[in-house]
This record gives sequence, structure tokens and C-alpha cells, in this order.
Amino acid sequence: MGKVIAIANQKGGVGKTTTTINLAASLAALEFQTLIVDADPQANSTSGLGYNPKEIENSIYECMVEGVRPHDAIIQTDFPNLDLLPSHIDLVGAEIEMINLQNREDKMKDTLDGLRDEYDFIIIDCSPSLGLITINSLTAADSVIIPVQCEYFALEGLGKLLNTIKIIQSRLNTHLAIEGILLTMYDLRVRLSNQVVGEVTSHFQQMVFSTIIPRNIRLSESPSFGIPALAQDADSKGAVSYLNLAREILVKNGMMPHEV
Ligand SMILES: Nc1ncnc2c1ncn2[C@@H]1O[C@H](COP(=O)(O)OP(=O)(O)OP(=O)(O)O)[C@@H](O)[C@H]1O
Ligand SMILES: [Mg+2]
Repeated sequence: MGKVIAIANQKGGVGKTTTTINLAASLAALEFQTLIVDADPQANSTSGLGYNPKEIENSIYECMVEGVRPHDAIIQTDFPNLDLLPSHIDLVGAEIEMINLQNREDKMKDTLDGLRDEYDFIIIDCSPSLGLITINSLTAADSVIIPVQCEYFALEGLGKLLNTIKIIQSRLNTHLAIEGILLTMYDLRVRLSNQVVGEVTSHFQQMVFSTIIPRNIRLSESPSFGIPALAQDADSKGAVSYLNLAREILVKNGMMPHEV
């Protein structure tokens, strides 16, 4: 049975989409069948993998709200072992349309549960909000990765997110775990980066992944080519750091990586 991991933080621009694409590509490169679910109306994971959100016919929206079969929405990417359940802008409307549905928090779970035996990992890219789609993602997930940017106000909003996770654990998804807090966009030369690492680590201790994602040009430019950093430059610091994160997660979950 596959593991569903949500990448969530309602703070914008902290590296959720970059983590989704590059962690998923790393797991796929290690020969784990991996599905990316783009649960953000901005559709950055969809465009970052080279698909025009305007040309998407069936997205996660149609699966959750209109009962379209996920298999009629899933795209097989050019990258081996990596599939995408895309998004488009209508996902904004889903939030409103779902308000009147029964079991409205369970729509993502209903969509993904049938896919668990086909994938080793399902990675959900959440939007910068704690709205109904994100609640759906956290209800569907086994665990959550929280990217935290090594910048000013890094910890801003983290309390609210952790509180939301607690509420979901008590009411909607008792087995939701925190996979880890991921420090992103670390810059060795900037003293502030080191301060944030120190602060977050002393506060959250073993909840923080040992792998720290550096600020790296390949990670920021590869989406414009529609490919993961690994496919653009496998030796880049960015690609290597996400491979290390994948290995750390595999070890943590008792799943030995296959040969690369
Ligand atoms: N490690 C990194 N090195 C360099 N640039 C990065 C890195 N991580 C993310 N970026 C860049 O920072 C910006 C924000 O990253 P990203 O889109 O992954 O954040 P996000 O949390 O998904 O944003 P949103 O909240 O809008 O969905 C992007 O331009 C991305 O290319
Ligand atoms: Mg994003």
C-alpha cells in the first residue's frame, strides 16, 4: 500500500512545489512508483512538469467534485515512474462547490484511496491556504512535510498550521503523522540562514529533517524547462539534496532504496 504525503504550509513561497516535484522525481529515480497530486489552483506543479494548466481537461477538481475517475485525469510524465494528477484554475471553484457536499472533507481521500495499491508514494502539493482543499489533502494523507524557508519570519504561521494538524488528527484523520519539518533555501553565506536553522532545530529537534535544501539556481530554473532538477542536472546541489531527502524518508520508513 502506497504512502500519501502532503507538502503543506499556508505561508506562500516556502518551497512546497519545489519540494513536491523534486522529492517525487527522486523517489521515482530510486524506482518507486510515484504520483504527484497538484492540489493548488496556481497549478505550479502541473506547469513545472511541462503541462499547460489551461489545456488540462480533467484535473483533481473533476475527480473530487464531479466524480471523474482519477485514471481519466492522471498523466504519465516523460520521467520514468512519475505520474501527475494535474490541477487547473477551476480548483478555486471546488472550494466553494464543496461547501454544500456531504463529507466534504473526504473528497480527496475518496479519490486517492483507490490509487494506493498502484503507487509507492503519492505526494500532494498543497496551496498556500488552510482552506477546504488543504483540509482534504491533510485528511487524505498519512503524513505531512512542512517546508520552512531559511528567511525572516520563518516560523510565522507555523503554530497555526500545527494547530490545524492537531484538529485534523482529533476529528478527521487520527493517523496523520508529521513526516518532518524541511529547511529550504538555505544560504551558507547568509548569517540569517544559520540563525533560522539553529532556531528551528532547537525548537523542533528530531522533527526536523537532517537534510537541508540549499538555495540553488537549478531548482529555481528547472520548472521553466518543465522538468525536475534531477533531469536537468543530476549533479547539481539542488538535485542531490532532494535525493538525500528521499533516502532519509525511505530509511525513516524502513524502505531500503532500490539501486539508482
Ligand atoms: N532551494 C531553492 N533554491 C532556489 N530557489 C528556490 C528553492 N526552492 C524554491 N525556490 C524558488 O522560490 C520560489 C517559491 O518556491 P515554491 O514555488 O516551491 O514555493 P511554494 O511554497 O510552492 O509557493 P506557493 O505558496 O505560492 O505555492 C520559486 O520561484 C522557486 O523556484
Ligand atoms: Mg506552490
